[in-house]
Amino acid sequence: MLKSLTLVALAFAQHVQAAAYTPACSASNFSFPELDGTASMSITAVPIYNYTATSLSIGGILGSTYTISFCNVSVTYTHPGSGDAVNLQVWLPSPSSWNGRLQAVGGGGYSASFGSLYMTQAVGTGYVALDTDAGHIRGTEHAQSPDTWALIGPGNVNMQLVDNWGSTSVHEMAIIGKAVTESYYGTNPSYSYFTGCSGGGRQVMMSAQRYAGDFDGLLAVAPAINIENFIPAGYWATQVMLDLGVIPPPCEVEAFTKAAINACDALDGAEDGIISSLALCDFDAHQMIGQDFSCNGTTLQFTEAGAATVQAAWTGPSSADGKVGWFGLNKDASLSTSYISTECSSNGTCTAVGQLLSSWIQYFLAKDPSWDASTMTNELFMDYLQQSEQDYDSVLAADNPDLSAFRVAGGKMITWHGLADETIPPNGTIAYMEKVLEMNPDSSEFIRFYEAPGVGHCYGGAGAAPVDALAQLVSWVENGTVPETLAAADTSGRPRELCAFPLQQVYVGGALDSADSFACRPRAENGTLASETSFV
Ligand SMILES: *[C@@H]1O[C@H](CO)[C@@H](O)[C@H](O)[C@H]1NC(C)=O
Ligand SMILES: *[C@@H]1O[C@H](CO)[C@@H](O)[C@H](O)[C@H]1NC(C)=O
Ligand SMILES: *[C@@H]1O[C@H](CO)[C@@H](O)[C@H](O)[C@H]1NC(C)=O
Ligand SMILES: *[C@@H]1O[C@H](CO)[C@@H](O)[C@H](O)[C@H]1NC(C)=O
Ligand SMILES: *[C@@H]1O[C@H](CO)[C@@H](O)[C@H](O)[C@H]1NC(C)=O
Ligand SMILES: *[C@@H]1O[C@H](CO)[C@@H](O)[C@H](O)[C@H]1NC(C)=O
Ligand SMILES: *[C@@H]1O[C@H](CO)[C@@H](O)[C@H](O)[C@H]1NC(C)=O
Ligand SMILES: *[C@@H]1O[C@H](CO)[C@@H](O)[C@H](O)[C@H]1NC(C)=O
Repeated sequence: MLKSLTLVALAFAQHVQAAAYTPACSASNFSFPELDGTASMSITAVPIYNYTATSLSIGGILGSTYTISFCNVSVTYTHPGSGDAVNLQVWLPSPSSWNGRLQAVGGGGYSASFGSLYMTQAVGTGYVALDTDAGHIRGTEHAQSPDTWALIGPGNVNMQLVDNWGSTSVHEMAIIGKAVTESYYGTNPSYSYFTGCSGGGRQVMMSAQRYAGDFDGLLAVAPAINIENFIPAGYWATQVMLDLGVIPPPCEVEAFTKAAINACDALDGAEDGIISSLALCDFDAHQMIGQDFSCNGTTLQFTEAGAATVQAAWTGPSSADGKVGWFGLNKDASLSTSYISTECSSNGTCTAVGQLLSSWIQYFLAKDPSWDASTMTNELFMDYLQQSEQDYDSVLAADNPDLSAFRVAGGKMITWHGLADETIPPNGTIAYMEKVLEMNPDSSEFIRFYEAPGVGHCYGGAGAAPVDALAQLVSWVENGTVPETLAAADTSGRPRELCAFPLQQVYVGGALDSADSFACRPRAENGTLASETSFV
């Protein structure tokens, strides 16, 4: 209520000032704020007219083309003594196009920011947009490997850059972004939001856990909460495959997934190509050994090595004592994209491809650009998993369930995760949310988590993904409209209402194209809950 009145007051102030106050997009109109441990290096400000780019909203599937005009402010600063240079971009729409709000956007993979890919739509929908490169190169093309920045020399990780990426740049972005906004419009943003998917979702989670008060609303999609665990652990299937020395073609990997969906799709009552009832799906890839599948018109048989590799992706690694390991992917997630990514040449020889998972071990654990994955034993792999937890948990993990400061600051957070995520096992997010609810059974007053059955990483898949989670977040923050469910739709437009955890979406009968055929129900008591696993 207080907030709504402030909004009205600010809108009025803005209106009154419009005549007298002319924002100037010139570097001399911006100054670097007081911020412990930082020093400004440069500020530039250049007006950009009719900039056209294709851009995505966080968790959106369809890119749209926007033409935007804005003041492009670029702020570069350092942490004195460290030799780093962190760059922040703030894109300021004209006062008449500004909706009074600020939206920071995160990156993904090893990149802290994707620049225009997310920023353009934010400006196009009226927000001040900002992102930070955290001191290393931005862009989707650098998301797969930290090769350009991880090491200061052989055997030595650049811990300043890891720390910037892990948390500090998130807070610095908020403070500097708000100062730049105020300099330009002569008023603070009425509300500030931070949205991100994957690695960006982890940045958002970090904001809630360490810098409560920086943002009013947070949207964390498929958050990389335990990045130090699931990235190296995700390499387990490839490790098993290389250890067996048999590389299955992509079509065999995909055929295993189809077989699992055939076996488990109907367990939830709805035959929709989605495995919703994960606890009931005890399908084992070994059941398929020797059976036929079709690969580009040729009939082949499922192999034992293929089954062992696929099963490794589904169960995840676990050390003999059960203390080191991580979750696997659900059985309707695509495996050939990332966990078992292979390529075959015309002579039939297949090889493992993809860098996202292996580059973590190469740069952050082996710390050796010439590291040879094929020489790693299963034992060394488990040692690396343990090392990763020891070295990076305190700087990168966004898994602190104590969100009391965020609650006190009055923040609101929406997080959702596709259950068919092919990169980040959703069970990690489920395990985190169980801990949040255990610590504060009333946490749904300020953080809500929704499972999206059948949805892939950030977007994609057969399931229904949220249509506009940010709009629901804005209504929650600004109007107090509680998002009891998240409005979602699949790619053919079939609507669903995603359930707030720990409720679970269940099919209650009726047509699959009607949202009313599904309801939110408590989890079955016998469902294996993720937190029963010892390593979380
Ligand atoms: C912006 O800077 C220019 C000088 O570069 C100055 O003339 C102008 O008054 C400043 N505008 C504001 C709004 O501070
Ligand atoms: C931007 O595009 C609009 C509409 O096409 C045009 O009227 C305007 O002159 C353009 N502005 C600049 C600075 O090019
Ligand atoms: C904004 O300014 C920065 C710094 O000069 C520049 O690198 C970037 O390309 C500019 N962005 C656009 C969209 O022009
Ligand atoms: C089918 O063949 C094409 C070209 O020969 C190849 O690119 C593709 O990977 C194959 N598909 C599968 C599923 O192996
Ligand atoms: C993930 O959690 C579900 C229950 O929510 C469970 O059935 C499944 O076995 C878990 N998967 C892994 C790989 O731990
Ligand atoms: C098959 O082709 C790959 C790449 O084209 C080559 O490296 C490999 O030696 C070939 N294998 C055989 C058995 O000819
Ligand atoms: C808040 O509620 C009012 C009245 O129902 C509505 O007009 C407005 O669009 C809502 N604003 C948001 C951000 O949801
Ligand atoms: C779990 O419990 C439900 C009823 O609560 C029952 O219908 C179902 O068969 C049980 N599943 C397993 C695997 O025990």
